[in-house]
Amino acid sequence: MPLIQRTLERILKNRSAVVVAVGVSLSLGVSAQESDGPQPGANSEERPAIEVPSFGAIFEGRSCLPAMSNVQARNTRSLDGQWQYTLDALGEINRRPEKTRPAVFEDVRDADIGPNVIKEYDWVRAPLIEVPGSWNAQIPQLTWYDQWMWLKKHFNSARNDQVRRFVYFEGANYETVVYLNGERVGEHVGGFTPFCFEVTDLLKDGENTLVVGVNAEQDEMTIPPKRADWSNFGGITRPVHLVEVPPTHVSNYALILQTDGKILFTAQLDGENKRQQVHVRIPDLGIDRRYRGESGSGTVNGLLEPRMTLSRWSPGNPVLYDVEIESGGETIQDRIGFRTIEARDGELLLNGEPIFLKGISLHEETVGVAPDRYMTDAAARTLLREVKDGLNGNFVRLAHYPHSEAMIRAADDIGLLVWSEIPVYWDVAFSDPAVLTLARTMQGENVYRDMNRASVVIWSVANETLVSDARNSFLRQLIEDTRQLDPSRPISMASHTLRSKGGAVRFDDPVIEDIDIVSVNYYRAWYSDGPLDELKTIEWANNSGKPMVFSEFGAGALAGFHSDENRKFSEEFQAAYYEAMIEMLENIPSLRGSVPWLLKDFRSPRRFHPEYQNGWNRKGVIAPNGRRKLAFDVLADWYKTLPDNPVDAK
Ligand code: GCU
Repeated sequence: MPLIQRTLERILKNRSAVVVAVGVSLSLGVSAQESDGPQPGANSEERPAIEVPSFGAIFEGRSCLPAMSNVQARNTRSLDGQWQYTLDALGEINRRPEKTRPAVFEDVRDADIGPNVIKEYDWVRAPLIEVPGSWNAQIPQLTWYDQWMWLKKHFNSARNDQVRRFVYFEGANYETVVYLNGERVGEHVGGFTPFCFEVTDLLKDGENTLVVGVNAEQDEMTIPPKRADWSNFGGITRPVHLVEVPPTHVSNYALILQTDGKILFTAQLDGENKRQQVHVRIPDLGIDRRYRGESGSGTVNGLLEPRMTLSRWSPGNPVLYDVEIESGGETIQDRIGFRTIEARDGELLLNGEPIFLKGISLHEETVGVAPDRYMTDAAARTLLREVKDGLNGNFVRLAHYPHSEAMIRAADDIGLLVWSEIPVYWDVAFSDPAVLTLARTMQGENVYRDMNRASVVIWSVANETLVSDARNSFLRQLIEDTRQLDPSRPISMASHTLRSKGGAVRFDDPVIEDIDIVSVNYYRAWYSDGPLDELKTIEWANNSGKPMVFSEFGAGALAGFHSDENRKFSEEFQAAYYEAMIEMLENIPSLRGSVPWLLKDFRSPRRFHPEYQNGWNRKGVIAPNGRRKLAFDVLADWYKTLPDNPVDAK
């Protein structure tokens, strides 16, 4: 049975428990405080205003479930750089009997092909690849390769039984198997969320050898499924760390501002000493509190009351507070923005004030004619500045999968609101329980990673999925999990199931009743004919009483191709399309967000028109090299006229 099924079977056995466990919200009173600085008498029996998500740090094998929070702030050593690699196009190494596999990873130099021994690989003379980074972007012959690659990294270490050590992957696409010094450490499924494994007992003095197998193949069991409108970049696409933490440490934590002005603090201790002290400080808010973990679970839940005025985070005021969490000798420093976000009475309320999302979507691709998925802070800021400064925007839909943590932290710092989604996209195998468990796990991993990021304001559970009983219950399970994992953010999904009745267009999707923000993807007059000036006559009937967002609309244009505005793929047509769409959007009273598809042209295996596309989806308002198309200014000028607060717009 291929790894993915075996893995999913095991996930089904274990992680569904974890997902349920991590979804169990502790609505208990806050933890007893050890001793705290001069605080107004926060009653230890006070119940949190919102239910407290718990971190089910249940170790299944060596896997961290979920991956520890804020790895960059811990005692880490980078394993990035040049790795050896060998291809395994038929996945034969992964199908070898477990006991013969380590021999494959030996550094044996096959000087001669002997009379009795032929090896189809040779690590000593193996080629090198840069990690992080996809093989598609680095090796031209592998542009469309989506099978197995085995990568190897030697590094020196020294045993130290006073600490615990983990190997942490910020992301690898899609199915990953990890070996250290010939021992199988574990595996992970999913291309865009972090994962880590404990390796304390496997590390040895001197040279250690890490071997990682990555299989990028997508099929009917994967999330996303094989058919997706973006290129599948395979490999170790995000940074790799060796992390050193105390024997008992804070594995995960969250600080969530509540509408009553208090900050919910929850943390999970991982290790023997469940009662270990956890000290949390936010100096600029006069917060300095000490807690002990609950004796059974090692969980800390507290309510922190700012002693100074808290400046709430927003796109116009992206203030981040220095937060320090100390336990067991480890001090974790983070920068966290505090704000509230609600979808209520047809409005999106940021810090209690209605807001209009002036946004755009983007794939995780660097600017350039040979883009990669590896997003450094600088590369992230290049893209986000185009939205914030270029387009006068305040929002990004990071499609169609969790982007790098660097992107989210840059959005926190720059001041952009974020829509975050997992790739439950088009034809997912909604009837398969193992696929549901994979989606639940993926959503858990995504939510845990970004729970402390003020910029993330919407969790989306799907994109353009067809209505069916299986799909409806699949999405409702994801929605329920997400609410339990993080009750502090509204939930949406990008829907395209509409029907026209009596001249009005309305949603025709039963799951609309379960989400907080109705979002529609709409391409009339691009994928269909019909004059652009028809768009403004369309009446939208949103009877949900919920805020509405256009999560996609757009047209393709080859940068530099100019013609009259009736010629599709010309810049003039794309600009005219945006003008017509904007005229329609301005006539939708319940509209609270505009998110065109999309910022930058991106690689796609579905787009091979020889003149206009050649492997690129051309709906970007900027070209691959960053050059702005005519439509860019149409959108920027409109957003400039729009106040953040839609109430002012009327
Ligand atoms: C769909 C889909 C996108 C796709 C876009 C397009 O709505 O959500 O992933 O790229 O349309 O057709 O360009």
